[in-house]
Order: sequence, then C-alpha cells, then structure tokens
Amino acid sequence: MGNELSAHAQWANHAEALYAAKGRDPVAIAGHLDQRLGQPSNVLDAGCGTGGVLAHWPRDIDRVGFDHDPGVVQVAAKRETARLRFEVADFTTPPEGTFHSVLALFAAFQYVLDDEQRRLSLVATQSRVAPGGTFAVELGPDPDTLRPPKAVWTRWRGSDGQWWMRRAMATKIEGTLSIQFAFHRGGPASPVLLQDTHLIQPVPRDWWLAQFSDASWTVDFDQIPGGGPLLIATRR
Ligand SMILES: C[S@@+](CC[C@H](N)C(=O)[O-])C[C@H]1O[C@@H](n2cnc3c(N)ncnc32)[C@H](O)[C@@H]1O
Repeated sequence: MGNELSAHAQWANHAEALYAAKGRDPVAIAGHLDQRLGQPSNVLDAGCGTGGVLAHWPRDIDRVGFDHDPGVVQVAAKRETARLRFEVADFTTPPEGTFHSVLALFAAFQYVLDDEQRRLSLVATQSRVAPGGTFAVELGPDPDTLRPPKAVWTRWRGSDGQWWMRRAMATKIEGTLSIQFAFHRGGPASPVLLQDTHLIQPVPRDWWLAQFSDASWTVDFDQIPGGGPLLIATRR
C-alpha cells in the first residue's frame, strides 16, 4: 500500500480529543472494564484503533492491541508504555496466545459487513480467550450517528492548539449504516480538510447471542461509560 494512509489513519491523531469531546473517556472506560472483568491479568484489544483504552488501563498488566489498519496501528505504537504493544492483524488471524480478557470496543466487529465473515472473525478471536476468561464486545453503532438525516457536530481543541469540528452524517444504504465524516479546522464554514466514510452493519442482539450459545460460554450484559451496550461472555 506504499505510504498512502487510510482515511481513518489520517485523522487518527485526533481520535482521543474527539472521543473526549463526545464524552467517551478512555480512562473511565478502562477503569470500568478492569473492575467489571475481574481485574484480568492480561488483555487483548481486537480492532484497537489508536489504543487509548489499553494505554489508560489502571493497572500495569500485559496488553496487546491489534487492528488491520497499519496507519492506525502506527499512531497507537507511538504510545511508549511498558507492557503494551500493538500489531497489525485481521480479526481472522489475531495475535498468538491466550488472554484473560479480550475486548472489541466501539462496534469494531460491525465493520465486518458480511455475517459469515463476521462469524469467522468472532470464532478466531474467541479462540484467544483463556478458560475462565471473558470476551467483552461493545455492540451497536455510535448512538450519536443514529439520527439520520440530522448531522451531528463535535468540536474540540487539537494538539495544534486549533479548534477543530467534525460533522457526522449517517444514512442507511440497503440496511448498512454509511457514516460520512467531514473534518473542519475552525468553524463549520471553514474548508473540509479530511473526509472519511465508515460502513457499519447494525447487528441484532440475537445474532450476538447465537455466537455464544455454546455451553462453554455464559453471557451477561453491561454498558460502556459514554458508549454502547456491552456483551460480556465468560468462557467456562
Ligand atoms: C470504531 S473503530 C474502534 C477503535 C477502538 N476499538 C476504540 O474503541 O476506539 C473500529 C476499528 O476496527 C478496526 N477494524 C475493522 N475491521 C477490522 C478487521 N477485519 N480486523 C481488524 N481490525 C478491524 C478498524 O480499523 C477500526 O480501527
């Protein structure tokens, strides 16, 4: 792919400030998960993006994040934290090893649009959960984007000291949610500097439950602070 960055990687440096402006605080999320998942001894984050949740984990444990977008992983890898590393990998071939908790946050698996491909991705990632361990999957697209055709604006101050704004507009195309993002530096009338489109598959809760219906799993539900519903599957 040469030096070309994906559209997502081009705004990855803004991810943390942008999420904070939306009330999605990685410190709160990591603290909540650590308690709710029983203080795991190691964690794997599938589709980790820029790695904010792992970087803010409240305890000094082994953490591995992976994502299939090399540009996003490059941004994550700039975090120099002990016992934390990031890899480029697809959900179908996660990093080797077993983990006491495996995470998939912010609807990461719903970026796999095809049901069978998503099922195979889950099976591969489930295989990394140690016996007695948990798989925590945040469900649902970002609720902010679920009001088509109303645009949702988020404003934050970037590390460049400038004010930035992002316009998010979701439309449904044949059942898939297409979310168009436009980034402005300055006010809404300033030129669009970056654009990105995310395609997300809204997946019914029953589909998720079916993937954990095997007797080796027990399923519970919770909520990510500032985010979506959380399915927690515990492996016997
Ligand atoms: C909405 S972002 C969530 C990022 C991060 N989990 C968070 O909570 O901020 C979804 C991430 O899933 C990644 N992703 C999508 N499909 C993937 C796949 N097949 N394998 C690995 N990562 C994938 C994307 O590159 C993106 O970084």
